[in-house]
Amino acid sequence: MPGAIVITGASSGIGAGFARRFAARGRDVVLVARRAERLESLADELRGLHRVEATVLAADLADPAAPATIAAELTERGIHAAGLVNSAGFGTASAFIDEDAARVAAEVQVNVAALTLLTRALLPQLISSRGVLVNLSSNAGHQPLPGLAVYAATKAYVTSLTEAIWQETRGTGLTVLALCPGPTETEFFAAAGSETFKVGATKSVDEVLDEAFAVLDSSNPSPVRTVGAANRLQGWVARVSPRRLRLWVAARAVGSA
Ligand SMILES: NC(=O)c1ccc[n+]([C@@H]2O[C@H](COP(=O)([O-])OP(=O)(O)OC[C@H]3O[C@@H](n4cnc5c(N)ncnc54)[C@H](OP(=O)(O)O)[C@@H]3O)[C@@H](O)[C@H]2O)c1
Repeated sequence: MPGAIVITGASSGIGAGFARRFAARGRDVVLVARRAERLESLADELRGLHRVEATVLAADLADPAAPATIAAELTERGIHAAGLVNSAGFGTASAFIDEDAARVAAEVQVNVAALTLLTRALLPQLISSRGVLVNLSSNAGHQPLPGLAVYAATKAYVTSLTEAIWQETRGTGLTVLALCPGPTETEFFAAAGSETFKVGATKSVDEVLDEAFAVLDSSNPSPVRTVGAANRLQGWVARVSPRRLRLWVAARAVGSA
C-alpha cells in the first residue's frame, strides 16, 4: 500500500511513537498536532534515520474546520492517505458539574468530532490503499467513570464508532483497530493536570505499540485491543457487571466516591 500514514497527536506520546514505528518500516508519514516545532524536529529525525518523506501539518483539532482543512491540504500536496492514526486527544478530570464548559467543548471536538470527520474524509483513500486505521480509544471507555465522565464517554464513542467501521469495511482489505491503552507514560497526565487517570499499572509507549502492532500484523486483526492482560480482565468484568455495581466500583477506582 503506497501512500503516507497520517498521524494526529504526533507531537508527543503514543502518536509520536506510531510515527517512529511506521517510519522505521519505511512508510512516509504526515505529522499533525498544534506544536509545529515539535513536529518539525520529529520530521527531521525520521527523514535522517529512515529516508522517508515526513510532512508537517500544524493544526488545532479543536477548530471544527480542521479535518476538512487537513484533507484539502493533503490533496493539494498530492499526498494519498494509506493510513490514519487518530491519536490526538486529551482528558479533563472533575465532577461533571465542575467541568469548564469551554474545555469540555474542546475535549469533545478533539476526541470525538475531529476523529470522526478526519476518518470520514480519508476513509475512501484508506480503503483504496487497503491501508490501516487506528483510533486511540482507552481502557477508560469500557465503562462510565464518575469523575472522568466526559473523557470516558468520548472514548466509549471512539470504540463504538471504530468497531462499526471495522464491520462495515470487512472484506475491503482495510485494517481497523480501536486501541485501548491503560495508563501510559506520556504527557497525557500533565496536559490533563490530573493523576486521576492513573488507575492500574502504567506502561511505556513501546509496550503499547508492541501490542498494537501485534494486532495490526496479525492475519485476522480484531476490532479492539485493550492493552495489558489486567486491563482486558477489568474490561470484561465491567461489561458483564450489573450497572449499579459497575458504577460503584468505577467511582472507587478513580477516587471520586
Ligand atoms: N497516556 C495515557 O495514559 C492514555 C491512556 C489511554 C488512552 N490514551 C489516549 O491516547 C491518545 C494519545 O495520548 P498520549 O498519551 O500520547 O498523550 P500526550 O502525550 O499528551 O499526546 C497528546 C497529543 O494530542 C495532541 N493534541 C491535543 N490537543 C490537540 C488539539 N487541540 N489539536 C491537535 N492536536 C492536539 C497533542 O499535540 P499538541 O499539544 O502539540 O497539539 C499531542 O500530540 C489520546 O487520545 C489519549 O486519550 C492515553
